[in-house]
Amino acid sequence: MSVVEKFRSMEYGPAPEDPKESLAWLDSRQRRFGHFIGGEWRAPVEGKYFETADPSTGEKLADMAQGSAADVDAGVKAARAALAGWQKLSCHQRAKFLYALARQVQKHSRRLAVLETLDNGKPIRESRDIDIPLVARHFYHHAGWAQLLDQEFPGYLACGVVGQIIPWNFPLLMLAWKIAPALASGNTVVLKPAEYTPLTALAFAELCNEVGLPAGVVNIVTGDGATGEALVKHADVDKIAFTGSTEVGRAIRRATAQSHKKLSLELGGKSPFIVFEDADLDSAVEGLVDGIWFNQGQVCCAGSRLLVQESVAEKLTKKLQTRMGTLRVGAPLDKAIDIGAIIARVQLERIDGLVKQGIAEGATCWQPEIVLPSRGLFYKPTLLSNVHPTSIVAQQEIFGPVLASMTFRTPREAVELANNTVYGLAASVWSESVNVALQAAAQIKAGVVWVNSTNLFDAACGFGGYRESGFGREGGREGLLEYLEPAWFRNAPVIVAASTTENGAPEVANPSSGIDRTVKLYIGGKQARPDSGYSIPVYGNAGALLGEAPLGNRKDVRNAVEAARKAEGWGKTTAHNRAQVLFYIAENLSQRGEEIRKRLAVAVGERQAADEVRLSIERLFSYAAWTDKFDGAVHNPPFRNISIAMNEPIGTVGVICPASTPLLGFFSMVLPLISAGNTVVAIPSERYPLIAGDLYQVFETSDLPGGVVNLVTGRSSELLKVLAEHDDLDALWCYGDDAMCAAAKALSAGNLKQVWTNEGRAIDLFSADQGEGRTYLQHAYQVKNIWVPYGE
Ligand code: NAI
Repeated sequence: MSVVEKFRSMEYGPAPEDPKESLAWLDSRQRRFGHFIGGEWRAPVEGKYFETADPSTGEKLADMAQGSAADVDAGVKAARAALAGWQKLSCHQRAKFLYALARQVQKHSRRLAVLETLDNGKPIRESRDIDIPLVARHFYHHAGWAQLLDQEFPGYLACGVVGQIIPWNFPLLMLAWKIAPALASGNTVVLKPAEYTPLTALAFAELCNEVGLPAGVVNIVTGDGATGEALVKHADVDKIAFTGSTEVGRAIRRATAQSHKKLSLELGGKSPFIVFEDADLDSAVEGLVDGIWFNQGQVCCAGSRLLVQESVAEKLTKKLQTRMGTLRVGAPLDKAIDIGAIIARVQLERIDGLVKQGIAEGATCWQPEIVLPSRGLFYKPTLLSNVHPTSIVAQQEIFGPVLASMTFRTPREAVELANNTVYGLAASVWSESVNVALQAAAQIKAGVVWVNSTNLFDAACGFGGYRESGFGREGGREGLLEYLEPAWFRNAPVIVAASTTENGAPEVANPSSGIDRTVKLYIGGKQARPDSGYSIPVYGNAGALLGEAPLGNRKDVRNAVEAARKAEGWGKTTAHNRAQVLFYIAENLSQRGEEIRKRLAVAVGERQAADEVRLSIERLFSYAAWTDKFDGAVHNPPFRNISIAMNEPIGTVGVICPASTPLLGFFSMVLPLISAGNTVVAIPSERYPLIAGDLYQVFETSDLPGGVVNLVTGRSSELLKVLAEHDDLDALWCYGDDAMCAAAKALSAGNLKQVWTNEGRAIDLFSADQGEGRTYLQHAYQVKNIWVPYGE
């Protein structure tokens, strides 16, 4: 074809990237890799290897070490040995290493991009222009955090040795998201890359040696799920950070429950892509190309559910189909390719199986008439329309280039459909009206919302999910906190057995005798009798019977959760209003303080009772103060965007209150939650549940809307189980001994609710340093980043 003919047809010619250098790199390592442990390459203890291949051709690339428990152990030992030395370095010294890694990534960016594309099958355009630049950006940003660590996080300690497990869809980028914040905050790591894509992690290991990173600070152990499991279960790992499927996330939640490992999970999604009738439809179509066909749709935050307003649905569909016809599927190393190869045959079959199931459930399937390469793992860009919201293709993560389309009539319906999922990772909202877009963004339950844009990421902006998309954030200040712990929390003593009397409160002179009080449950703003019809006796310090408290059961908890859900308008009231209510509670508590103190003294002793009342009033003032001060942030990512980091309430939260501090313990747990706008189902102190009566009397006179705080008394361990297993609770805070904390974590894996416990430690709630403040509020909120573009 002559140049003129080519110009006329505007056909793409082949534009292959030359893989020579990357292949030479593989050859120079004899295409066989051990683990990277303690700064050295080590052959696997059991001598087993597996192959990694190019999914676009099926050709083997190299043999990789299959990590056994012994290899994982060696990695953890190396990380442990390196920890003290790494922590002894100054912030500036650590910052220089992170900076050097960023520079080194940039210097080798082309080789890394080609290697990534060879191993993963993603278009070179994406690995070259998106993945690797973001990797470098992540290390630069965290070089900054390393530098500022002592100034910005005084009183915090690094977790220690961190186990990190990453997926195959963004291999080097996920590594950067994990390793950069961990190192910046003074941890050492053992990272396990995904079995399909281990190569760039090993290339990165070499960069670590090239910059002279101390041996053992970064260790890479390759292998499959069993290797990951060994890392998760290793007794000497202090934190696990995982990105991958929700199913494995759930298993990891269970597997770490008995330990004190800190956990962050970045899991699946089924993110809505909402197009309102006033959207710029051509831009929305380009957004969709990026939203669902970027990386073959193998993206946890892919805009896989198109929700389009009925009035423009037909028009948008036509434009979309036209555009889909121009998408180029093929050899990922070709610079003019839009869609590369699917990672593995099993994934390809999974995608196809789900599409067929969607069609069987009534969806209409449309694919452009394009020819796929004759070999390798490819799938056509696919549009499923007329999808019913309950269909499997509207509910389940497909993780492929498949868009499921549905229509809506009103903005309200759009939000309802958007939230009709167990996930909550991301959303994309398209409208030319800033009011419409931001109104929807505020109501969507997702960690990231892109307005008139999609799939934007930056190291300064936290990324992570709501609901079953996991918990914890990656990036920004909140991402760094996942790798840190307050020193007071880490160093708190372990609660000894018989926690209910741990304070050893003195006996009081005149214990009351006989039953003088019967309290009720408090649900939806009303006093309620327990479903069981039973009460439990409550005894004072001197053994005298003080009164009876209702024995709450599963049904009572269910009612309380329902009431709390209904009261979620509390989170939408202004912070000023919430602060007013907290001040008012303080005023009323103060008025009744003397009688409450007297009653409490019989259970906990005179001195503690007086302290509890006084400090509870102070704590109410503190959280009334915090309510309109724990603000979000506005980030300035390096695009023409701002990212508004909003602190949002988590939703409805179950609380197991400390046994030994009936009044102060209750307020220490419940106040940060309601200050943040959550609603609560609290199980008051098992040791002195009669406190419930005093609490609801104070609430009833304080304008606290019914249902914001619900009280169910009873046996903590039984009610804990009910709360943890309740699928309509968003989070669980549990203060108890080790066994209770472990149960809270293990039993909550069902809906992956966020769990925060005292890790069986005795926190000094009488001190303001430990009993209140930012640490509590950070757990009471979740951050949503709303990206808003600006400019023409
Ligand atoms: P996966 O969740 O099994 O794998 C992710 C990582 O976890 C890999 O490194 C794997 O070796 C490791 N792993 C597997 N089982 C483990 C265990 N029991 N303990 C510790 N680590 C374990 O994901 P997979 O099988 O590769 O993909 C299946 C589906 O998961 C995909 O179709 C997609 O829906 C979803 N997925 C979601 C990702 C996300 O970014 N949210 C990433 C990858 C997959």
